[in-house]
Amino acid sequence: MARSKLILWGVVTLAIFAFSSRALAQANQPLAQPKSTNQVGFPTDLYHWVIPPDNPLTPAKVSLGKELFFDSRLSADDKESCSTCHDPQKGFTDQLPTSMGIHAQFGQRNAPSVLNAMFNTLQFWDGRAPTLEAQIQGPITNPIEMGMASMDAEVAKLRAIPEYAADFQKAFGGQITFHDIERAIASYERTQVAFDSPFDRFLAGDQKAISDQAKRGWALYNGQGRCMSCHGVNPTQPLFTDFKFHNIGVSAHKSDFVPLARKALALLSQKGGLQEIDRLAIQTDMSGLGRFLVTKQPHDIGGFRTMGLRNLLVTEPYFHDGSQATLWDVIDHYNKGGVQNPYLDGGIVPLGLSESQEDDLVAFLATLTSPEYTKQAQKEYQEQFKRSRTDRPQRDEAAAMGLSGRNGPGFSGPFGDIGPGEAAMRENPADLGGRPVDSLK
Ligand code: HEC
Ligand code: HEC
Repeated sequence: MARSKLILWGVVTLAIFAFSSRALAQANQPLAQPKSTNQVGFPTDLYHWVIPPDNPLTPAKVSLGKELFFDSRLSADDKESCSTCHDPQKGFTDQLPTSMGIHAQFGQRNAPSVLNAMFNTLQFWDGRAPTLEAQIQGPITNPIEMGMASMDAEVAKLRAIPEYAADFQKAFGGQITFHDIERAIASYERTQVAFDSPFDRFLAGDQKAISDQAKRGWALYNGQGRCMSCHGVNPTQPLFTDFKFHNIGVSAHKSDFVPLARKALALLSQKGGLQEIDRLAIQTDMSGLGRFLVTKQPHDIGGFRTMGLRNLLVTEPYFHDGSQATLWDVIDHYNKGGVQNPYLDGGIVPLGLSESQEDDLVAFLATLTSPEYTKQAQKEYQEQFKRSRTDRPQRDEAAAMGLSGRNGPGFSGPFGDIGPGEAAMRENPADLGGRPVDSLK
């Protein structure tokens, strides 16, 4: 396109969309465009499987969904769009520990990426939404995210915007409904596929696609590091996750699980449903209970979904509460055996990884970067590397080597970790108040 034409186009669009110039700038970035599926490692069969038969992809739906995704008029104060917290420039996250929504209010959870989210078997860190479509009412009606009073209020608001009437007519052949808002946005999200990483090329047979250090990291990932046991990868798990829920101790240090679980059960017995779980997850200290809010099963206390590992160097910080700043901090967390609590997953044990082995693991994780983010990721890698040489808040070498903590003196009885230690007695996993779990469903 000639430069003058580009400028003219810029002026015209600015005039039309002056209300949301930031979101519009985001929407026009190359990183926001629908992606080609012609990528090394792209799981073609699975992709067809995850597109629901009642919502096939069409160009009209994808383009409408894109408009909606970047339109801040979907929020109560016309300031938050989906892209506020899922910015394509930041790997479709906000790169904040926890997200900031309407009137500068912070929630309790870190925003995961929308990239490849169509492959998640459930949505959200606790899996409370079954599909991309069902996920969308969460942020729109959450009072501290986009703040709309109800799904009906959203429909009424969009019906008053003339250009949308035509776009919905074209995409769905009718007037605006919430169901179709969901279907359009989900269709756009299903175009955000991100594979084609150096590691995908390595798996496809290109031995030179990754460094020797990354190859050592891959071996550790499968072996001593035990990452593979939860972050498995195969043609049905292309995101390096088992899509299951595990308590790996992330919220253990700040949650008093049993009283919190009792409080949550009392509230959920009065008022159940997705919206109430969303409120507890985003707005209260019960957030750290994780999957328990959805299933009310004691074994799910503090359990969160195993997150995928692609493009980690543009989606920092890490974990459901954004509590770890670097990949070295994440690995330090695993290396020392997580944070002890009575609900800790049995797969979390001290790993005995040396410093250079941790470096190797990070070098491997860095190879999971899609080409469009290579530059950003390299810069972030350098920054994290530098920081990791001096600043390691999670490092506990004695625990990692089994010389203190759960394997050290004081924990050497016949029952090992799960014996009736003092901490375990204080927080008995089954002690939620003697209520039959079924009565609360
Ligand atoms: C105020 C910030 C904010 C806004 C606005 C927002 N999100 Fe999110 N999004 C989050 C957070 C935080 C989570 C994780 C919440 C949780 O798991 O409890 C999330 C989770 C998701 C997920 C699940 C991803 C996964 O891996 O589980 C998808 C998909 C998503 N958002 C899409 C959207 C769409 C579409 C919109 C607009 C309708 C939107 N978000 C608006 C912050 C936001
Ligand atoms: C027992 C299962 C399990 C094992 C083993 C495991 N993980 Fe995880 N991983 C999880 C879960 C669950 C989460 C989310 C936890 C949370 O936020 O509370 C997670 C989160 C992560 C994250 C953060 C992702 C993000 O977007 O925030 C990274 C990085 C990660 N794991 C890397 C690893 C590496 C490297 C290893 C091996 C050293 C490993 N994991 C071993 C279950 C596991």
